[in-house]
Amino acid sequence: TTGKIPREKGLDQTLALLREGYEFISNRCGLFQSDIFETRLMGEKVICMSGEEAARIFYNPRLFQRKGTAPKRVQKTLFGESAIQTMDGAAHEHRKQLFMSLMTPERIGMLKDLTQQYFAIAGYDWEGKKAVILFDEMQQILCKAACKWAGVPLNEAEVEKRAGDFGKMVDAFGAVGPRHWQGRRARKRTEKWIRKVIEYFRSGKIQAPEGTALHAMATYRDTEGKPLSVQMAAVELINILRPIVAIATYFTFCALALYEFPKTREQIVAGNEEDLYMFVQEVRRYYPFGPFLGARVHSGFQWNGVPFNKGQLVLLDVYGTNHDPRLWDDPFLFWPERFRNWKGGLFDLIPQGGGDFHTGHRCAGELVTIEVLKTGLSFLTKQLEYNVPDTQNVSVSLTRMPTLPESRFIIDQIKLTP
Ligand code: HEM
Repeated sequence: TTGKIPREKGLDQTLALLREGYEFISNRCGLFQSDIFETRLMGEKVICMSGEEAARIFYNPRLFQRKGTAPKRVQKTLFGESAIQTMDGAAHEHRKQLFMSLMTPERIGMLKDLTQQYFAIAGYDWEGKKAVILFDEMQQILCKAACKWAGVPLNEAEVEKRAGDFGKMVDAFGAVGPRHWQGRRARKRTEKWIRKVIEYFRSGKIQAPEGTALHAMATYRDTEGKPLSVQMAAVELINILRPIVAIATYFTFCALALYEFPKTREQIVAGNEEDLYMFVQEVRRYYPFGPFLGARVHSGFQWNGVPFNKGQLVLLDVYGTNHDPRLWDDPFLFWPERFRNWKGGLFDLIPQGGGDFHTGHRCAGELVTIEVLKTGLSFLTKQLEYNVPDTQNVSVSLTRMPTLPESRFIIDQIKLTP
């Protein structure tokens, strides 16, 4: 791509985006034979781009900014208003440090242990049941582990509701209509709950040790030495809890992969930590979760002769980059072995964003996600026996965003192994 950028003709493509889902950008890259093109979305001219080189410029903080990028409808469901996802520069780096300080190996190990404990309790419970829906169960397990880990009190009786609300915020991101409004209501309820938790912590009614997310968010001081407002602290604490619950999506894809590709299961049962790691990486690469990411051009520049104008919206194709044949042999083959001796870069495997954790917007919870999934995968393959009834539809739609196996993955005849 030098100089000229293909332009999609015709009307606004927002409806096509909703219709084509995860493949919207890669479909057009194929059509235009180009990894960059311009189209119209939600009433404005948008540049869409795909691949490692595109990711590299997208994550150059001098070229792009997040201010003014995330639509209100996403802030009112998925992110929370004015949260870390919308910040830039020194203020962002300072806020990011707050998040990254929670991700030490020791703290991640604690979350893994908690997850393992709640798995064991759930497995015992499942033995007595006719069948369970794995996705729903996993959301609740992770909700309990996340709250415990973060220092947030949670009654057994409210687990289902709270886990459901975290799920609904995520489920709203690619939705219009009822699913969107469900997400908004879920966020309202959750913010009200977590604002109270922040207030109770600050007034000493509840305690949480140093190193927990509750302690960190409630006592953080920004670059000017000011604490976060109760609302902002709640939003950022939710930015820890919600995505931990969202790991249920990848966990369900782990279960699906074990079912669809039984050879890989054998390898894990006979294998070690590295086999768990490779499998989890391949799940994050292969299955769809985030479709694309957005940013605005900070000040005009040229890339390969293509002008990027100040303020223009640019979308980076996450799903397409994870299936880019220039980066991955046989990209639509589920093949964990590709991650043995993988010389991973910062801009090729980007299911949770790319670039540097500290200076850019790469997901603060990527290592947490990998480690929790390894724990879950090990539990599924080494501590549990189950059957996958074939009366369910496990197909994964590429047009629903976010997506899941249609049945949310039902298992029965469950037994804990000795
Ligand atoms: C950001 C994906 C789990 C915390 C992001 C981004 C993506 C992402 C795509 C945006 C990157 C960008 O804007 O350039 C995911 C997926 C997850 C996951 C697919 C799997 C469930 C987690 C977990 C946590 C977390 C477990 C926390 C424990 C965050 C935070 C940000 C973020 C705080 C904002 C970072 C920033 O703006 O600097 N994530 N994430 N995520 N994620 Fe995750």
